[in-house]
Amino acid sequence: MKVVFSDGTMAVDSKLQFVQEGLILADQFSGFKEVHTKKGKSNFWRDAQGTTLVIGLGEAKKLDHEKLRDLAGSAVRLLEDEGVTSVQVVLPNVFDAKTEAALIIEGMLLGNYRFDRYKKEKKETSLQQIVLTHADDDVKNAVHHAQIFAQGTIVARDLGNEPANILRPSVLAEFVVERFRDTEAKVTVFAEDELIKRQMVGLLTVGKGSIHRPRFIEIRYVSDPNKPLVALVGKGLTFDSGGISLKSGRDISDMRMDMCGSAAVIGALDILVKEKVACNVVGLLVAAENLPDAGSMIPSELIEYPNGVSVQVANTDAEGRLALADGLIYASSINAKYVVDIATLTGAAAAALGDRYAAIFGDEGVGELLQVAGEISGDYVWPLPMPQEYEEKIKSHYADICNIGKGSAGAITAALFLRHFVGEHQAWAHVDMAGPMEAEATSGYRIAGASGYGARLLAQYVINQNMA
Ligand code: BES
Ligand code: MG
Ligand code: ZN
Repeated sequence: MKVVFSDGTMAVDSKLQFVQEGLILADQFSGFKEVHTKKGKSNFWRDAQGTTLVIGLGEAKKLDHEKLRDLAGSAVRLLEDEGVTSVQVVLPNVFDAKTEAALIIEGMLLGNYRFDRYKKEKKETSLQQIVLTHADDDVKNAVHHAQIFAQGTIVARDLGNEPANILRPSVLAEFVVERFRDTEAKVTVFAEDELIKRQMVGLLTVGKGSIHRPRFIEIRYVSDPNKPLVALVGKGLTFDSGGISLKSGRDISDMRMDMCGSAAVIGALDILVKEKVACNVVGLLVAAENLPDAGSMIPSELIEYPNGVSVQVANTDAEGRLALADGLIYASSINAKYVVDIATLTGAAAAALGDRYAAIFGDEGVGELLQVAGEISGDYVWPLPMPQEYEEKIKSHYADICNIGKGSAGAITAALFLRHFVGEHQAWAHVDMAGPMEAEATSGYRIAGASGYGARLLAQYVINQNMA
């Protein structure tokens, strides 16, 4: 799907017109019929000739940026179903033109996403062109940014959806190498020997049960070395079976998405590189497979991290924090000033906030910037506390800390665990995206499957952090 700018003379199959509440019944649209979808009435209206699709924006006070993205996302699938090949977008004139154009284009690109790589019947995309008329430079720029943000999100979706027998840790590493080849970003991959040499004991322990060995992947993008170093650490479990503490669900295929923290970091760097943002960023991905095997890590296992912290593995399913610890220690060894880790870490975070909000923890300054970035990007976050008293919950009888917390507050105790691996002088935040990792159903610009959550959030955060 290409976006083209035209002076209005270009022929198109259909117009897509966003219209404020009340106007739909105006003379201009008499004869338009409301489109009925599987879900019932849609507030989308079609004329008899099929030349214009009108999108009702609903109540003005309920219209926000996210709603416009969603309407554009739903509209694009309707146009696809109708076999439209080119559509001219008529902006609603409720926000400023560049904002509207960006939101609509982003919503359309994401709403038309499909993951059908492994299907016999692949539906060809019918919609080839989205036409914007009389766009000034501001609108063109905004559309360009929106396309880049959508592409970063799509990379993250693709990676998340990929089955675990295909996307092994080494395959993820290769993907990253390829994706950033011939860009300003430099990729370094640590395999077995290097992991041992660097005492990445978390990854090595989590990965013990699999013949598909762990990787540590660094993506460095330094376009302005004078900017403070920001480290983005992503959980990259290409599959989480729980290990010896085996998961018991009827279908645990979704645990192929346990690398979505890494996917978010990859997507964010993709965006930052393409946007040529002046920054000093390093993405750190901890990739492993958590499987049960005679050689697996076992409950009661002791891990001694190079920062001096010893850990009791009480449950092998709390593996993400063990692997992330390596990434956090590394981030402190390279003196990152700001550290944000992102992970599909706990079912508890998903239970608390559902699939629209990730839980965030940590230092206030970073958290506030993440919240702003979430509002702008549509990847929402909400803060949870880290009470000092809860440290008691992760005490161990024979190690410094235990990888599961006593009692409730599982998302919080996971965050408290991670804090033991953050350097003293670093500003840190932890994003638990177990909830928004996946969209259960297709709606608006979200497509059932891996959501691509976090790519837009982290890219926007880095942009905001550089301005702060
Ligand atoms: N990857 C899971 C968390 C998860 C669950 C993500 C559902 C997305 C959807 C993580 O490794 C895990 O297994 N966490 C356990 C921790 C527990 C054993 C302390 C959990 O949340 O149940
Ligand atoms: Mg687990
Ligand atoms: Zn996991």
